[in-house]
Amino acid sequence: MKFFIDTANLDQIREAQDLGILDGVTTNPSLMAKEGISGDENVINHYKAICDIVDGDVSAEVISTDYESMIKEGEALADLHENIVVKVPMIKDGVKAIRYFSDKGIKTNCTLVFSAGQALLAAKAGATYVSPFIGRLDDISTNGLQLIEQIRLIYDNYDFRTEILAASVRHTMHVIECAEIGADVMTGPLSAILGLLKHPLTDSGLEKFLADHAKVNA
Ligand code: E4P
Repeated sequence: MKFFIDTANLDQIREAQDLGILDGVTTNPSLMAKEGISGDENVINHYKAICDIVDGDVSAEVISTDYESMIKEGEALADLHENIVVKVPMIKDGVKAIRYFSDKGIKTNCTLVFSAGQALLAAKAGATYVSPFIGRLDDISTNGLQLIEQIRLIYDNYDFRTEILAASVRHTMHVIECAEIGADVMTGPLSAILGLLKHPLTDSGLEKFLADHAKVNA
């Protein structure tokens, strides 16, 4: 399973990259706003800065909602760097735009996916990635992981090449459960990734090893 980090924070992206386990980055307009990135030029420079840190796919989301503008915006984003993936919302014009980008060899990430039907459409349109938002489904008492299972089954039935990018991952158990189901990618916060490191028996075991070593090497 590929690990993407879901942030526009350069320090966190660097930290995950330094760990040697990072395969890519996802951003969205809310994450960019959280870092105070505004204005076309700053946004473009920020995407370039992210691409300089990570050797992997970087999702950059269009903010247009009509077909023509999405194409214009997406093509400009794709021109920024070879690793840019154009992130397009699951709306009617978005599906058409994904088909256009796919035919042109531009990678896409179909975002804001909350149902198996939407995921099926994204795959039919040729999306590189589909992003089901599991955390936001959990937030409204709907099982987000069940959606990942459903999409896995459907894509495997027909050998769709679209990669399932489990998004809106909120914690470490989400990461493990996505891996059990067979999501191709997960994107989550740095805390969810670092949580995988933790086990109290690792900490107490290491403490004992170091103490025993120190006793005979004083
Ligand atoms: C997906 O690519 C989105 O950026 C993201 O995962 C949304 O997560 P949230 O529901 O925690 O905002």
